[in-house]
Amino acid sequence: MSKQEQLKKETAEKAVEQVKSGMILGLGTGSTTSYAVKKIGELWQAGQLTDIIGIPTSERTAKLAGQYGIPLASLNDHPNIDLTIDGADEVDPQLNLVKGLGGALLREKIIATASRKFIAIVDESKLVDRLGTLAPLPVEVTQFAVQAHRYWLEQLPCRPVLRSTNDVPYVTDNGNYIIDCHFLNGIEDATKLSMRLHHHPGILDHGLFLNIASEVVVAGQSGIRSLMR
Ligand code: A5P
Repeated sequence: MSKQEQLKKETAEKAVEQVKSGMILGLGTGSTTSYAVKKIGELWQAGQLTDIIGIPTSERTAKLAGQYGIPLASLNDHPNIDLTIDGADEVDPQLNLVKGLGGALLREKIIATASRKFIAIVDESKLVDRLGTLAPLPVEVTQFAVQAHRYWLEQLPCRPVLRSTNDVPYVTDNGNYIIDCHFLNGIEDATKLSMRLHHHPGILDHGLFLNIASEVVVAGQSGIRSLMR
């Protein structure tokens, strides 16, 4: 296992220490979170965690959790989540995040905001002074009028790129497209940008998670630390 994978595993397993029997758990998406889901699955199978219910943020995560037999339900069944653990692509000093490089941002944000506690798990390479400097900002849009969305996003200004492989657009679990917005010098005012994006018809959500994380667990060369809001 590479050093970075090791760090992902460590941060994930540290966060799982906060999982208790009887909890309704939001299960995030991504390579870091997959270590958390696996750990929860192992504890469940060993009988060290009982009466838990997982609410997955993606079909991918539902499949992984299913492999461990973790009982799953939807947010409609359990609208109040005790704890959600999820990865992030960037974390700024105020614990605001960029998420969504894994394509699950819409469900991730719905589940994060329905959670009493949201823990982001990252290795230290994700820490930034300003959001949008390391990763593009993913924006989930309707397939309808995708060129118009792209044109509008260009005026922010940013360089919008429709997420695709070999010219085939990536389709989210919700049947939408993702446009990754690259900002030249990062995002100047994330709150203002978030509001602008939310008010534009056809934009379903974006990867700015502002004031949502209550804790960020960071694994680095010198150990694991928790950043609290
Ligand atoms: C999934 O849509 C994302 O929000 C991920 O949580 C985020 O991209 C972090 O993924 P990794 O842990 O794979 O870096």
